Amino acid sequence: MKSLLQKISSNTETIGVIGLGYVGLPLAVNFAQAGVRVIGFDKSQTKVDKINHGENYIKDIRDAVLREVVGNIKLTATTDFTRIKECDALLICVPTPLDKFRKPDMSYIESACIAIGQNMKPGTFISLESTTYPTTTEDFMLPIIEENLKTNPLFQEILAEQSASSLPPFGGSRGASATFWLAYSPERVDPGNTSFHTKNTPKVLGAITPEGLEIGEKIYSKAIDQLHLVSSPKVAEMVKILENTYRLVNISLINEMALLAGKMGIDIWEVIEAARTKPFGFQAFYPGPGIGGHCIPLDPFYLEHIAKKYDFDLSMIHTAGHINMRMPHYMVIKISAALNSHKKSVNGSKILFLGVAYKPNIDDARESPALEIIDIITKKGAVISYHDPYIPSVETGHALSLQSIELTPETLHAADCVVITTNHSAFDAEMIQQHARLIVDLRNVIKEAGDNIFKL
Ligand SMILES: NC(=O)c1ccc[n+]([C@@H]2O[C@H](COP(=O)([O-])OP(=O)(O)OC[C@H]3O[C@@H](n4cnc5c(N)ncnc54)[C@H](O)[C@@H]3O)[C@@H](O)[C@H]2O)c1
Repeated sequence: MKSLLQKISSNTETIGVIGLGYVGLPLAVNFAQAGVRVIGFDKSQTKVDKINHGENYIKDIRDAVLREVVGNIKLTATTDFTRIKECDALLICVPTPLDKFRKPDMSYIESACIAIGQNMKPGTFISLESTTYPTTTEDFMLPIIEENLKTNPLFQEILAEQSASSLPPFGGSRGASATFWLAYSPERVDPGNTSFHTKNTPKVLGAITPEGLEIGEKIYSKAIDQLHLVSSPKVAEMVKILENTYRLVNISLINEMALLAGKMGIDIWEVIEAARTKPFGFQAFYPGPGIGGHCIPLDPFYLEHIAKKYDFDLSMIHTAGHINMRMPHYMVIKISAALNSHKKSVNGSKILFLGVAYKPNIDDARESPALEIIDIITKKGAVISYHDPYIPSVETGHALSLQSIELTPETLHAADCVVITTNHSAFDAEMIQQHARLIVDLRNVIKEAGDNIFKL
């Protein structure tokens, strides 16, 4: 532990970031900017090559910053996982999707842990950043890492000593004579947020041992302004799931209210603006066509997975998830009602979607409700096109391949119906309103009322 702390205080440690996507690359860049040597690991040769050529693929990172940290060799990327042994700390940022049965797909974390167990050197600090269910770090990761240490040449001496002594095999990882330290620190990054980014978003950290917590705090403090330490990895894991479930439940609530308000002829947006004048006890959430992204729609399934093991039924979260799953279907009803008012059917109508990203000003369409709406409405015979300034092409869940078209007065006018699915700031409300013949605005982009404007 002493030698690692010395390295940290002299800024001579090497940090490995495993998984260089929306979360991992900004984190790697942040540490490199703090003057720490960083090795980025990814399975994708394309991403690794791009980084090593200083080519940025994450919108929240400035191109010049990536070029600078690659240019001064603070950040290098590799697909060679044997280089894990060069690292003093490993931060894991791999995907945590669902499998086809909507169960947690832990294969990415598992594969990262196997590579770590087989290649790390003794005295390494490991922190998982991926969103997952509580208990993952201790009950899922630790045994995999320990099992794979058995084939790690750098651990053979320690293993021999442990089996000769009364220590349980690898039990040192939990005790004072630790051979490595394991922690969980959820990533909270909010892509597209111009005020809060990786560095100035407070970070929660929980480690298995007090030593792990101390090391983690010292490492993360270099790249993160404010840390909040908790007593264990499972508290930190639950924090992340709570934050995301809180959003899920509140967005579901406001979506349900919006559907009712629509039926009653009440403008939900006006209601929210008034409600948010209350200085306490109310936080504004805004309705939309459904929840998207890699986190919020998926996380309840992670929580459900562990809740089942405790024979616990998450009824509130179930209901919230159910409302959201239905939202794209309700949106299709809205679109068909709007077309009906122009004496048109969905079948054969030309429908232009504005925005396929799941939220404004980002280039991420994962789990986007726009894609679900497009799939449903295509099956009903509509002729679909879309424009998204950040996403030039997209594939829907039903393998429909689409290319973004230009947004011009002509393309707007040519559509029987224009559906606003994402509120990108680049959308010019006035221009859309001037040229579209019929608008279904699911994001309150068009502020003025009109006979040809249908709102959520
Ligand atoms: N994107 C967000 O806004 C966000 C925010 C907070 C938390 N998270 C969580 O962070 C985690 C990562 O999400 P992301 O959006 O960065 O995903 P991503 O898909 O953008 O990036 C993951 C990267 O990991 C790589 N990868 C996959 N398996 C690997 C392995 N075994 N070894 C090395 N690299 C591997 C992939 O090639 C990819 O580049 C997820 O658990 C997610 O839920 C994401």
